[in-house]
Amino acid sequence: MAILKIARMGHPILRTPAEPVADPRSPEIQRLIDDMIETMVDANGAGLAAPQVHVPLRLVVFQAPGERDQGGLDEDERFEPTAPLTVLMNPKIEVMDDKRSAGFEGCLSVPGLRGLVNRPDHIRYSGVGRHGERIERLARGFHARVVQHECDHLDGILYVQRMDDLSQLLFESEIKHWVKPSEEDM
Ligand code: NI
Repeated sequence: MAILKIARMGHPILRTPAEPVADPRSPEIQRLIDDMIETMVDANGAGLAAPQVHVPLRLVVFQAPGERDQGGLDEDERFEPTAPLTVLMNPKIEVMDDKRSAGFEGCLSVPGLRGLVNRPDHIRYSGVGRHGERIERLARGFHARVVQHECDHLDGILYVQRMDDLSQLLFESEIKHWVKPSEEDM
């Protein structure tokens, strides 16, 4: 296994749409998955997409808590490092209803920053797992947010591009100063 170099915002690989994984069970893909997991854990991330390690394939790994109705603005504070690990290839996302929620996101490719992003709160995602098995799950809250964030990387999109209000882009060290806007402003 190896810790891979993470591309940072500005590198063209992060703007490039990724290609489907042709053979999820191939030794090359299995090695890439191991390396991505090691890299994510080493960097203390909740998720990692292959383009972030300079590989333009539709593959993401993430750790998200199971189905929970979380909501609220402090979802990212509820990240659990012991949450189950998911490997997802060639994913598809379907939005289940109109409800959206705002939560702070960070990204290993945008180090040091956090931004408030509004996203659909309830999704169904599907794809292929590391052993070629089909994955299909409903997700809400932080789980849904992580999946959407990681899958956006496969389309060359960073969370900053999803922000409605760039005044809500902060350094992590300054987040203690953040004041929750009233609901009408969200
Ligand atoms: Ni990211």
